[in-house]
Parts: sequence; structure tokens; C-alpha cells
Amino acid sequence: MARVQLPRGTFDVLGDDALARAELERTARRVLEAAGYERIETPAFEATELFARGVGTSTDVVQKEMYTLSEGDGSITFRPEGTAPVCRAYAEHGMHKRPQPVKLWYLGPFFRRERPQAGRFRQFTQVGAEAIGSEDPAVDAESILLLHELLSALGVGGARLRIGSLGTPVTRAAYSEALAAHLRAHEGELAEEVRARIDLNPLRAFDSDHPGTKRVMESAPRLLDRLTPEDAEHFATVRELLDAADVDHEVDPTLVRGLDYYTRTVFEFSSAALGAQSGVGGGGRYDGLLEQIGAPGAPGMGWAAGIERMLLAAAPPAVAPLPLDLYVAYTGIEHRTQAFAMAAAARRSGETVRLELGGRSLKGQLKAADRAGARYVAILGDDGVALKDLESGEQRTVEAQTVLHHIRAGFEAL
Ligand code: HAM
Repeated sequence: MARVQLPRGTFDVLGDDALARAELERTARRVLEAAGYERIETPAFEATELFARGVGTSTDVVQKEMYTLSEGDGSITFRPEGTAPVCRAYAEHGMHKRPQPVKLWYLGPFFRRERPQAGRFRQFTQVGAEAIGSEDPAVDAESILLLHELLSALGVGGARLRIGSLGTPVTRAAYSEALAAHLRAHEGELAEEVRARIDLNPLRAFDSDHPGTKRVMESAPRLLDRLTPEDAEHFATVRELLDAADVDHEVDPTLVRGLDYYTRTVFEFSSAALGAQSGVGGGGRYDGLLEQIGAPGAPGMGWAAGIERMLLAAAPPAVAPLPLDLYVAYTGIEHRTQAFAMAAAARRSGETVRLELGGRSLKGQLKAADRAGARYVAILGDDGVALKDLESGEQRTVEAQTVLHHIRAGFEAL
């Protein structure tokens, strides 16, 4: 029978990759919790409507990438992103009553039915941070700074930061009309899918790789030139604060993101170390999202970064497995119970311990202990307990109840 295969765009994580991911999670936690972000976990699936209303029905994500199931009278979707769920949780738990902004971070699996390729999967992992409840441009700058810090801490090389502003929905609506008019005037030169979306989402035309579309976009009106004075000032302050913190960035007036909830600041980090899928992480402000999902309005700002892409772009971290204090070996099955009890007692008192489980010969057990990097091996046999220090090579016969004492204080201690 043919072996059952993994679905396309999914993968297992093991060995050094698993250690590297655990290390990345520790780093993210250190960077974000040090800045006052609190961990939040939301379910892997939500009501489909949350994403339809939050992310936007004109986006690729909602139109064709969601894994959706009908359930009862309704429908649920495996979360394609984390911002709408965190906003739902903010409203659900009355977090507007806390001091604002409320700062939350998350790490977990997300699901998009995209065409799999290097750096693009159907189940991937994001680490994300959201600050909800303040319009202050310092929130934007700090949020961007934290992703910058995380990428530096991880050693993600050659990360380039592009930043833009989409203004408020009113400005954007007026701009979308002007842009749609420009696109319509050049309809014959555009890619089919751009043409199909002129009315739905003309801004996405900036994302197109199609040569004709690219040419048309060069002469397109720019949103950045049409910001209201308040939005322009907000954007200028975000930039000033980034400069004050020495965060290099480029203004990209064509930066559009794949999700519809953004207002004002948007940004993206990309890395030359990645191929076509060069986006490592990005985000922006979403001042209208809470209202869109039917909650009392509150402004928000945040980002998410893909763990798989960060690991692809980063120098592999030097992660050592946990040091092993003691390996409990035994010469025959009749000593297994005592060995088991010794391992249990040593673990209970805080040592890292491994017990022989493979039924190996004594020689095989000593080899296994060595391979595992154990500091001591206790060998339980007919003549009592022999304790061997694998660092010095010294071996002595000791009392079973003194093993823990010796591995902490040495042979001479009693
Ligand atoms: P996003 O740009 O769609 O934003 O995703 C953020 C990051 O997730 C990307 O930069 C990429 O590293 C990773 N990613 C996305 N899709 C895939 C995939 N199919 N395979 C591998 N990695 C992927 C968001 O999701 C927003 N929720 C970010 C945000 C938070 N905005 C405000 N707050």
C-alpha cells in the first residue's frame, strides 16, 4: 500500500529545526514581553464572518485562500491571520476598560490555501504583536521598532524596511476613485486580474508583476500626495521617531498590503536572503477594524512575521540541547525497577536524567550515554551502583542513595 502523504504546503518540524524554532520563540518572548506585550492565544478557527468583515471580501485571502467548513447553520474558517481574532478578543474581554493601548503578542499556526513554493506554505507560523487603543504615532514607531529589534536579535540579514501611509478611509476612497479612473483610461494595457478588480480594489494594481500594469502604475496618482494634513503629520511623526531610534527606512508610496483593514501607517520588512517570497514581516495601523467586526471602535497598530521565513533568512542559531546530568544504565532486566526508581527520584529533585529504554547491552548503553552528552552514568548491577564521571573518566562504586549527592558535589564530597 502507498504510504499516506502530507497535504501539499505542509511540513513536519524536527531535530535542529525544532530547536531553532523554540529558540526563536524565546527570543520573540524576550523582545515583546520586555516592551510590555502580553501573550494571547486565540482559537485556530473562528466564525468565517470575522475574516470576511475584518480582512475584506475583495482580498485574495478571503476570496480564494481560506479553509472554510460549514458548521450547523454557520461557517467556520481556519484563521488566515491573527489581527481580526485579536480585535475580536479585545472586544469580547472588555479590554477597552484597561489602560490603553492594550499590547498583545501571539505565536501560532495560520492557514492559507496559497500555491506552495519556497517560503510559502499552506500552514505556516506567525509571531505577531498588536497594540490596541491609541492613535499616537509613537505606538506605530514602537511597534515597527520591535519587529526591527526581533529581526536583529535573530540575525535576519539584509532586512530592508519600507513604509507608507494609506491615510484614512475617506482619503483612500477618494484616491481609489482617482486611481480607478487612471486604470480605466489604460484598461487595454493591464493584466486581466487587475482589470477585473478595478472597481473592487484598484490599489492592488501596485502589487502586480505584469509589465504592462507596471508601466501604467508609474504614471498613476500617488496616495501619499493626497493625505490630509493630519494624516501627513501622523506619518511624518512616525518617521521622525524611527529616525530618532536609528531605524533605517525607505518611504514607498506604492506599498500596498494584501489585507483591507489598513489605515494610515503600513510597513514591510523584506530580506534579500529570501527568494521571490521576500516579505519577512509587516503590518500597519487598522483604526477601523474593530467597528468593521461590530465592536465599539478603537484604533490599533501591529504586525506579524512568518517564522519559517525568518528562519530561512537568519543565520542558524547556535542552540545546544539541554545538558544531561545523569544517564541511568543497568546490567540486566532484574535491575530495571531500581534504575527506574533512581531516575524518577533524580528527576524529582531537578536533575536532567535519561533512563535506558532500548534494552541495549551495557556497552551500547555507555555509548548512548556518551552520545547524549551525559555528565555521569550510574550503572546498576549485581555488585551495586558504579558511578562514572564521563568528563574525567573516573569511576567509583557508591551507595545508591548517594548518587545525587555525588553528581552535584563530586566523588570526594562524602
Ligand atoms: P501578512 O503580510 O499577510 O500580514 O503576513 C505576515 C507575514 O506572515 C508575512 O510577511 C510572511 O512572513 C508570513 N506569511 C504570510 N503568508 C504566508 C505563507 N503562505 N507561508 C509562509 N509565510 C507566510 C498579516 O497577516 C497581518 N495580520 C499582519 C498585521 C498584524 N497587521 C497588523 N497587525
